[in-house]
Amino acid sequence: MTIVLGVTASIAAYRSADIASKLRKEACNIHVVLTKGAAQFITPLTLQTLSRNPVTTDLFAETADWHPGHIDLADRADLLLVAPATADIIAKLALGLADDALTAIALATRAPILIAPAMNGKMWLHPATQNNVTVLRSRGIDFIGPEEGMLACGYEGIGRLWPVDEIVAKSTVRMRSQIELAARPGDCVFRLGSVSWLVGVPFMAVLRDRRRCSSAGEAKIKK
Ligand SMILES: Cc1cc2nc3c(=O)[nH]c(=O)nc-3n(C[C@H](O)[C@H](O)[C@H](O)COP(=O)(O)O)c2cc1C
Repeated sequence: MTIVLGVTASIAAYRSADIASKLRKEACNIHVVLTKGAAQFITPLTLQTLSRNPVTTDLFAETADWHPGHIDLADRADLLLVAPATADIIAKLALGLADDALTAIALATRAPILIAPAMNGKMWLHPATQNNVTVLRSRGIDFIGPEEGMLACGYEGIGRLWPVDEIVAKSTVRMRSQIELAARPGDCVFRLGSVSWLVGVPFMAVLRDRRRCSSAGEAKIKK
């Protein structure tokens, strides 16, 4: 199972280290994508070490491969989790902007998207943010949190990042249901911990192939 973990410039960004570490222990392959601002709060080196994969910070920092890195990650993702998600990224996703690696991946992927917001309560309750959340929910994007409590900005209210263990649990459940939805009649899906397999074949590989060829247009593009 491959999760792309998008981390944005919230004071809660340090908790993405715990999320990456716990998801990896759930046998997930984690690829972290940091926004430019997020790198002010947590280093790529920390997330690279915990995820055991290179961290993407720059849309234009392409390596040797001809295939654009953000498209590759978008195709390989079985889930795009954005945690923590700022008011800014929520607005960008609602508008469909693609001016950095994370937003470009979000537009290019056909994987489910799960967003865990974290921000000041007034930012969360602002009609602009609430409207953006409604737009994203109407497109099938799922939210977890935020919760109420003492905020880093000194206020008490709604805006705290949801507990990490529950974000991890919801991410694995979301991927598992995606696997089971994609199973054909006669397929044998079984679970080992939180990972679903198809008769000895890593099931997500099967799922990915089906998703990539989910329409004639996409199949053509692939050729
Ligand atoms: C110390 C500090 C803490 C911040 N915490 C948050 C936060 O928790 N949530 C949020 O939406 N914005 C927060 N911001 C504002 C964002 O960093 C800012 O909107 C930024 O442009 C978001 O960039 P990104 O969405 O590309 O990562 C914070 C800014 C600073 C300086």
